[in-house]
Amino acid sequence: MTSAGTHIPVDPVTAGLREIRERLGRITDGEVANYIPELARADPDAFGIAVVSMSGHRYLAGDTDVAFSIQSVSKPFVYALALADLGLDAVLRRVNAEPSGEAYNAISLEPGTGRPANPMVNAGAIVTTSLIVAPDAAARFERIRACLSAFAGRDLDVDEQVYASEAATGDRNRALAYLMRGAGSLVGDVHEIVETYFRQCSVRVTAADLAVMAATLANGGVNPLTGVTVIQEPVAVQVLALMATCGLYDEAGAWLLRAGLPAKSGVSGGLIAASPARLGIAVYSPPLDVAGNSVRGVKALTEASERFALHLMHRPLQQTLTVTDRSTAREHPSARPRDAAATAILRRDGRRIAIVSAQGTLEFTETERLLNEVRTALPPAPGWLVLDLERVTHVAKGAAAMLGATLGDLVRSGYEVAVTAQESMAKEAHRDGDTWTVFAGREQAVAWCEDRLLAGRG
Ligand code: DON
Repeated sequence: MTSAGTHIPVDPVTAGLREIRERLGRITDGEVANYIPELARADPDAFGIAVVSMSGHRYLAGDTDVAFSIQSVSKPFVYALALADLGLDAVLRRVNAEPSGEAYNAISLEPGTGRPANPMVNAGAIVTTSLIVAPDAAARFERIRACLSAFAGRDLDVDEQVYASEAATGDRNRALAYLMRGAGSLVGDVHEIVETYFRQCSVRVTAADLAVMAATLANGGVNPLTGVTVIQEPVAVQVLALMATCGLYDEAGAWLLRAGLPAKSGVSGGLIAASPARLGIAVYSPPLDVAGNSVRGVKALTEASERFALHLMHRPLQQTLTVTDRSTAREHPSARPRDAAATAILRRDGRRIAIVSAQGTLEFTETERLLNEVRTALPPAPGWLVLDLERVTHVAKGAAAMLGATLGDLVRSGYEVAVTAQESMAKEAHRDGDTWTVFAGREQAVAWCEDRLLAGRG
């Protein structure tokens, strides 16, 4: 082990997963699900933990390539497909988004309308499946299978034995579906819809697959292994929100409190969690607690969340903006050749051209700080501002709006504003009708402001 050059030390993520797996592997609590008879055949000792990072790197410990049926872990992904097909408002009219605080197979239906409480309980998932746009049941299932496959980054198939087993014993789900059709909240052929739902639950995955699927949600809908955009980012955000509040049924509140991650469990022993912009993580361990969640899975993901500091409510360390210069054209004039009279004017009045340079990324906090720096730097109106963002590498959507609005206000208050930015970012912030000007570099921006100042002097 110690002879130099023969062993690359294991990375800290794998080491962490192995350590958690080894320790929690000793837990023998919980029961393997048997209400779907085929699931009872699962090995209670099987235990795998997989992580997939945003760069598509996989970290595996234990039984991460054992195949099992996805069960309820399919629900958030099929919900994503329904949202992509119909949009949030239309889907919400059919399936609510309130944590039921009840078991996954509860009759969680709204009094009067029969609308299910959320898409993570069976009732809501059955309606969600029925919403997938397709000409017939076979095409609907094929869209679901293709969607799950795109999330996993490989072609998934159905465990026909699990499907047959659930189809033979799934009367509670049929009863739920008939109740909903009676209430008007489920529309269509009950038999076909429930069979499609059973097939969806029987799609075969491994813990390694589930980690890729979770990582795709964490990555704004882009599969980090294949690079394929599986769903648009707003849909990924909606799905993660639903998983955070409803993913673990009657354990959802305690889960969010302790692990602080959007998650989803299934009765075959799968459990996923997504840490936005960081990783997807999945566990396979069949013994379940009374709420139907994997005993070791819940513990393993809670520990992983603590170990890697993933809790959503942590204060993010995103203050990456550095203001690299706050000066004026008096100290930092352009190199444009000027005659003696112009040089004299600029030496005297160059301080009316404020220059603020920054680098890093702009989200809310950074933009708020930058705009305060701008306010402090500004000369009294009328004056000029060079906002040099050439080395800003990313502007978040909300930040671009804050920036655009402030620059527009400055122009209306009598300032002329010259912005330098990488092209894509300039486009992001600049709207038609904006009266501030974008330059390719700081030198041109300062020279332009100087020209405008001198033009004002005739
Ligand atoms: O409908 C059922 O009962 C199963 N096909 C799925 C339930 C499930 O996975 C609940 N999760 N913990």
